[in-house]
Amino acid sequence: MQQAPFVFFCRPGFESDCAAEVQAIANACELAGYANAQTDSGYVRFFLFDEQSAEQFFEILDLDDIVFARQWFWAKAELEKMSLDDRISPIIDVCTDVAMAHSVLVEHLDSNEGRELSKFCKKFSTPLTIALEKQGLIHDDSEFRLHVLFIANDNCLVGYSPVERSSAQKGGILRLKAPKQAPSRSTLKLDEAIQTLMSRKQQHQVFRLGNTSADLGAAPGGWTYQLVERGLQVAAIDNGPMDKKLMATEQVEHFKENAFSWLPEKSVDVVVCDMVEKPSLVANLMATWLEGSHAKHAIFNLKLPMKKRFQEVADCIGLICERLEEEELKYHWQAKHLYHDREEITVYFRIK
Ligand SMILES: C[S@@+](CC[C@H](N)C(=O)[O-])C[C@H]1O[C@@H](n2cnc3c(N)ncnc32)[C@H](O)[C@@H]1O
Repeated sequence: MQQAPFVFFCRPGFESDCAAEVQAIANACELAGYANAQTDSGYVRFFLFDEQSAEQFFEILDLDDIVFARQWFWAKAELEKMSLDDRISPIIDVCTDVAMAHSVLVEHLDSNEGRELSKFCKKFSTPLTIALEKQGLIHDDSEFRLHVLFIANDNCLVGYSPVERSSAQKGGILRLKAPKQAPSRSTLKLDEAIQTLMSRKQQHQVFRLGNTSADLGAAPGGWTYQLVERGLQVAAIDNGPMDKKLMATEQVEHFKENAFSWLPEKSVDVVVCDMVEKPSLVANLMATWLEGSHAKHAIFNLKLPMKKRFQEVADCIGLICERLEEEELKYHWQAKHLYHDREEITVYFRIK
């Protein structure tokens, strides 16, 4: 009998990368399984061959370790051809058989079809939550999050994820509003990266009034804007022009230089980099900054126009780790294909 699938949400068009990554995680744990993904659907189903393997997979999966997935859960049932007059009862029936949940997320995919369900999902969330509470199926102490993922208005997958190892945001999407004064929309990428990839403690350490930073490939200044807003002094490296209002803050010094050869006289607290360059060149540049103690924290994008994106990411991260290990440096890293990223991912490295 086919096992119920694990479900991974991703950006439409990145299903094969997400599938390759999840397969690699299963292989590394010696768990046999296979992925099933339709291009542009915005999600991947992953099947383990037996219940015991599925339980082990559930125990080890952590959203923080997966680059191309925004959210995940282990489906317990797929409800098809539901009566549109009562979609709550069959969901309650599934939950009654499985577990109590800390909370419920009614989700849809980020595909064109998925987004059409967004209004319904929003409306459906409150009556479903009330019904689950009435049945005693919601409890603060539960370590599980209940997911109800609508694929169509009469078809949903119902399942669970561990609260600590999945996203509290619907579909794993952190919705942010672009600040009016920011010179470019890519400002949201750095904002999301800081909130998603850095712990509160790390954010507090780095973003203190008067701390210093470098923004490599800074123009017109969307990322610099985020650093300035958080109180940092910024060395902005780019031949292109920087936004005038940002320059007027007197927190920004503009160096019209090549970011591949520029280094600060004194180390900075954080370096960020958003250059459209070959990922291996950016990875090597970041390794140079980190191993030379020019910065202890680095946030950067790896642009991924190629086909085998998962392999490219693994190679680039591997390259940085190798260089840091050669210097006997201890480090932490996390990478994510963020909601505001397009053909790129965002990486965070910290030297411990
Ligand atoms: C995607 S844009 C950066 C956008 C910026 N993060 C923002 O939010 O406004 C890339 C920038 O990198 C700059 N760039 C590319 N190669 C560079 C290099 N070798 N040295 C300095 N800047 C470079 C380009 O001039 C361009 O302004």
